[in-house]
Amino acid sequence: MTRITFELDGKQVEAGAGETIWQVAKRHEREIPHLCYSPAPDYRPDGNCRACMVEIEGERVLAASCTRTPSVGMKVKTASARAVAAQKMVMELLVADQPARATSHDPDSKFWRWAEKVEVTESRFPAAERWAGDTSHPAMSVNLDACIQCGLCVRACREVQVNDVIIRWASPPASPAANACRPARPAP
Ligand code: SF4
Ligand code: FES
Repeated sequence: MTRITFELDGKQVEAGAGETIWQVAKRHEREIPHLCYSPAPDYRPDGNCRACMVEIEGERVLAASCTRTPSVGMKVKTASARAVAAQKMVMELLVADQPARATSHDPDSKFWRWAEKVEVTESRFPAAERWAGDTSHPAMSVNLDACIQCGLCVRACREVQVNDVIIRWASPPASPAANACRPARPAP
């Protein structure tokens, strides 16, 4: 297997073919925030929450470490001031739209544990319109007021479990939740 060497937080490290910056960092015991990504087997990174942003020397914009693969000689900083500021900002924007932790559905969720780790459990920003929970399906319900639209549940259901019983609305009903995950409708 082809391996390449790059710099991660000032240290020379190796990456295997297809290995992402996030995965290499994890092997080297560096924790990068992640919400839409799961390191569990068979989960495909999607790169949509931007909680895992890192700085790459010479690049104008930060990169999502869960999807970006390193190249030879790349210099990556996972905890530079710029990277940490971006990680915190993403969390603060997401926290703004959540029910407060104390009254949330699960104060010990992955979301709130990461919020605590990056030290952003409150937000300066106004909350967006909250969506009501969807309890219309007989077998499952979703707390849309806590959903960050990361799509992880849809990938889990469709690509890992291969059940395909959760969908993402990409069409009407037109509402702020139009792109949220929902149980697929049962057959009439
Ligand atoms: S319900 Fe699905 S899309 Fe919403 S936050 Fe949870 S895993 Fe992500
Ligand atoms: S964890 Fe990388 S973009 Fe969401």
